[in-house]
Amino acid sequence: MNKDIQLIINTIKICSIKIKHIIEKGDTTKSDSQNSTGDTQLKLDIQSDIVIQNELSKLKCVRSIVSEEQDEIININQNATYNIAYDPLDGSSLVDVNLSVGSIYGIYQYSYSGKNIVGAVYVVFGPRVEMVVAIDKQVKLYRLLDHSFEYIQDIHLQTKGNILAPGSTQAMWYPHHKQMIDDFFTDGYRLRYSGGMVPDLHQILLKGGGLFSYPATKDLTKGKLRQLFEVFPFALVFKFAGGDAIDGEHKLLDINTTHIHDTTACFFGSLQEIKKVYEVWS
Ligand code: AHG
Ligand code: MN
Ligand code: MN
Repeated sequence: MNKDIQLIINTIKICSIKIKHIIEKGDTTKSDSQNSTGDTQLKLDIQSDIVIQNELSKLKCVRSIVSEEQDEIININQNATYNIAYDPLDGSSLVDVNLSVGSIYGIYQYSYSGKNIVGAVYVVFGPRVEMVVAIDKQVKLYRLLDHSFEYIQDIHLQTKGNILAPGSTQAMWYPHHKQMIDDFFTDGYRLRYSGGMVPDLHQILLKGGGLFSYPATKDLTKGKLRQLFEVFPFALVFKFAGGDAIDGEHKLLDINTTHIHDTTACFFGSLQEIKKVYEVWS
């Protein structure tokens, strides 16, 4: 790993310890503002965003940053290499019921697009704080022990798993999607869906495989999850872990981004499950 990426990861560790304190002690109520996607921001979203913006802005190797909670790209150093897109607190509406949440970071070279993502990091804030780093074709798990993140293990998916995380509003599913999900359950898959994509995907990665879906639906024809902040980072994690990630027809990392807040349908899983998704959706 090059030293600039190492520095970015070390900075993410610093942010994560600060965000852990914000989650533990912060006010879980709504703010008066909305983000670009139209979600009402929680005070926790805004506070976490400020922490990350302040810390990443100090780095000479960062060209620009863009957050799910900001309308525009923030330029940092014109001659630097790395652009970082992040979701400071994914699943923030779950903090008041004390379910797990996460932060997601995508590290992009040249420009913000799936083709240019070179690294991804996510942090799970659950009973434990864990960080997963996908870089150089490897996926590594670290855990916060006392005050530092310690290496735990590499993450590899099996070719087939047995858990299913089917997102979105079921009343809006297309019939072929409903049939596909029913077929997985008939085949013995078990439901594991918390409503936070970070812990839901983390579970699939650590339990060997399965399928997370957030499809195109009758009301949201481009899904809900955001390409730069949520989808591409996890697509890279699943690719490097030996799984795959598609929008139904195309590899997620091949799709075009026309606007920083673009969303897409997405499926992340081990190879056999993704093959079935492709057969049903393409
Ligand atoms: P965010 O809190 O950043 O807006 O995103 C939450 C996301 C994701 O974590 C989760 O998988 C999805 O929203 C849940 O959506 P549904 O309730 O529609 O399934
Ligand atoms: Mn999110
Ligand atoms: Mn968020």
